[in-house]
Amino acid sequence: MTPGHARRRPSPKPAIPLPDPPLGEGAVCLRPWSVADAAALVAGWSDPEVARWTGVPDRTEEVAARRWIEGEADRRARGLALDLVVDLDGAVVGEVGLSSLDPDAGTVEIGWWIDVAHRRRGLATVAARLMATWSVAELCVNTVLATCDPANPPSGGVARSAGFAPGGEDGVWTFRDGGGRGTVPP
Ligand SMILES: CC(C)(COP(=O)(O)OP(=O)(O)OC[C@H]1O[C@@H](n2cnc3c(N)ncnc32)[C@H](O)[C@@H]1OP(=O)(O)O)[C@@H](O)C(=O)NCCC(=O)NCCS
Repeated sequence: MTPGHARRRPSPKPAIPLPDPPLGEGAVCLRPWSVADAAALVAGWSDPEVARWTGVPDRTEEVAARRWIEGEADRRARGLALDLVVDLDGAVVGEVGLSSLDPDAGTVEIGWWIDVAHRRRGLATVAARLMATWSVAELCVNTVLATCDPANPPSGGVARSAGFAPGGEDGVWTFRDGGGRGTVPP
């Protein structure tokens, strides 16, 4: 590397807190996964559309789901991810999650899926809006990014309904606010 052009080391990823108080609207609440939800998580991962459009792990049997759930607190502590159940009246109906927190860029990525039996009822819209609004208010970010493949119109529809601004050809939608306050130091 040319002297004087040393690349700045990226800031360490801060821990991601759980929303406190928990996020919710009407009968919907966003809560952490519990090992008791493992079968519901397997069902979600087994949906072909969820497998196609989201980062489902290679192993999707119940023991793997339990292990993934048990690792959630550690992923949060290391600033890698925050994954929350979309809970409707006490039942798991989907997930909304954050990943790729970048304190230097002030960005975090969001993703979502909803169980096939509960789609087209506005649940992903509510979950995405709650999570994005909380992220810009409480994390060290001012922009939440949603990558919605143009070949997946339902996901772009959720982004639009939840208040994200349309992206370009790369399908990246953005949710912004006046600037994060940050329980997490920049
Ligand atoms: C994408 C997904 C999460 C949508 O969940 P949902 O709860 O049904 O979404 P909503 O009811 O909030 O829909 C919001 C808007 O998205 C659009 N939309 C949702 N599903 C749609 C569909 N099947 N076809 C066309 N538009 C659709 C509509 O504009 C809808 O608003 P409307 O119902 O008022 O017309 C769900 O289809 C899913 O889990 N898909 C598989 C996983 C996935 O693609 N995740 C996204 C990866 S980025």
